[in-house]
Amino acid sequence: MRFCFAHDQGMEARNVLCYRSGGAKRFQWCRRERGPVWRRLGFVDRMAVLTSGGDAPGMNAAIRAVVRVGTALGVEVVGVSMGYAGLLTGQMRVLDARTVGGILQHGGTILGTARSPEFESEEGRRKALENLVTRGVEGLIVIGGDGSLRGAHELHKLGFPVVGVPATIDNDIPGTQIAIGVDTALNTAIEAIDRIKDTASSHHRAFIVEVMGRHCGYLALMAGMAAGAEMVLLPEVETRVEAVVDELTRAYARGKLHFIVIAAEGSALKAHYLRDYLSELEDGAFEARLTVLGHVLRGGSPTAFDRILATRLGAAAVEELRQGNSDRLVTYGGSKSNSVDIMKALGDRCGVDMPLYRLANMLAK
Ligand code: F6P
Repeated sequence: MRFCFAHDQGMEARNVLCYRSGGAKRFQWCRRERGPVWRRLGFVDRMAVLTSGGDAPGMNAAIRAVVRVGTALGVEVVGVSMGYAGLLTGQMRVLDARTVGGILQHGGTILGTARSPEFESEEGRRKALENLVTRGVEGLIVIGGDGSLRGAHELHKLGFPVVGVPATIDNDIPGTQIAIGVDTALNTAIEAIDRIKDTASSHHRAFIVEVMGRHCGYLALMAGMAAGAEMVLLPEVETRVEAVVDELTRAYARGKLHFIVIAAEGSALKAHYLRDYLSELEDGAFEARLTVLGHVLRGGSPTAFDRILATRLGAAAVEELRQGNSDRLVTYGGSKSNSVDIMKALGDRCGVDMPLYRLANMLAK
């Protein structure tokens, strides 16, 4: 890789920043100061990887796969610290196979992660782009959720090659069947709910367990099914508080010793409101407690499924970039090629699996 100047391209030196690598199959990128135009002629020699948004268990496994597969294929991998915020401040370092040793089994992300309001502006994104280009980076892998992937798409629109890896416990990316971190979060949730059931049965109490998921009810529904909850509250399904009371009354009449409601944080009927409502009912029949699992679900050692998923997706992302593709999201299941356009993969709504929701209700009887 070497930087070249405008005269190499027959362009105005003042307004052109370009670099290229030797060899017929190499990339050659050219960018003008205004309305950048990039030209692709071959493969990448240097790529960057970052993790962004809420961390998800398995992100480290994905970073490891990117670095080790990239290195094995002769690509230098640069790690960006603290997501897009690190791109803006130029916090980058070369990662080699050894730097990613011993991280596979750890939750969180060794690169750090952040939500960067500055990157949301055009000016911020141009600054980030400049930092990538001046360091000779030819492609970027973004490991993160919905917002992070939209950010990657914006960089692509400026002409920079990007590939996304879905990682979010919310599982709110319709283009992939499952994102990195979801399986671990679910297992953490059901372990906690199992424990709560013990105490709930002993006291004959109602428990509301709130789980994360932003505007998406996936985690709540799956945790409710897997842990045998009596009810789930989802953002996608309207549930009145009176319906919960009816259900609760019938459950105790059937001889149930507890009543567990899994409430998605995004559901309209809020967990704390429900707890207060049940506790304040006039006859005082239902003693209710609330447990908010919150960030507990984001931590911990990734499950085998998440480690393998992250490894496969990380490796696939390197391959996508090497093949000269951009604006793609590597995915699990779904399309044959296992990658889709980023914006096609994202959606406004999560789309709850209604048959599964009905099944969960049936099983709760
Ligand atoms: O997107 C992941 C997530 O954990 C959501 O489930 C939750 O709503 C949000 O992030 C919490 O964000 P923060 O960690 O910034 O409070």
